[in-house]
Amino acid sequence: MSGWRPGDRRADTGSMLRVDQAGEYGATRIYAGQLAVLRKNCPEAKLISRMAAQEERHLDRFNRLMAERRVRPTVLQPLWNVAGFALGAATALMSEKAALACTDAVETEIDRHYGDQLARIGEDDPELAADIAEFRADELEHRDSARAAGATNALGYPLLTAAIRASCRVAIAISKRI
Ligand SMILES: [Fe+2]
Ligand SMILES: [Fe+2]
Repeated sequence: MSGWRPGDRRADTGSMLRVDQAGEYGATRIYAGQLAVLRKNCPEAKLISRMAAQEERHLDRFNRLMAERRVRPTVLQPLWNVAGFALGAATALMSEKAALACTDAVETEIDRHYGDQLARIGEDDPELAADIAEFRADELEHRDSARAAGATNALGYPLLTAAIRASCRVAIAISKRI
């Protein structure tokens, strides 16, 4: 790789951290939007509250790593704030099952994204890799819980999840750059 010197990290882990922090931030906003709409104490709201608490933990960890490593956040944070909340609220307004289908779709893309990152990091950054691997397991558990709770019964599930997955891929691609 051009410009690489011994002692430098080969993988651009600063950019990875930026996109991951943006993603976890977006996740907290999606769940906040859903919880603002869903009836308190319905089974879906309880499940989503539990997942939201884990997203907060993921976000805190990436925030701390970014501060330690002096990585700036994405300039799009205000956009993810609004877009995440809107996606969460919109899916919850459709139905409880649509809210779960949103989790199903988002976590499917995040799993893929974290998997790609782990492959690229290799042995370069064991600290970041350990966090990503742990969070990836949480995200997969979120996806499976959403499916077990009936996400796939949402009206228009194939189209809805395809659209959300495409949006996630765009958000990830943009956050890598700016
Ligand atoms: Fe997360
Ligand atoms: Fe998650």
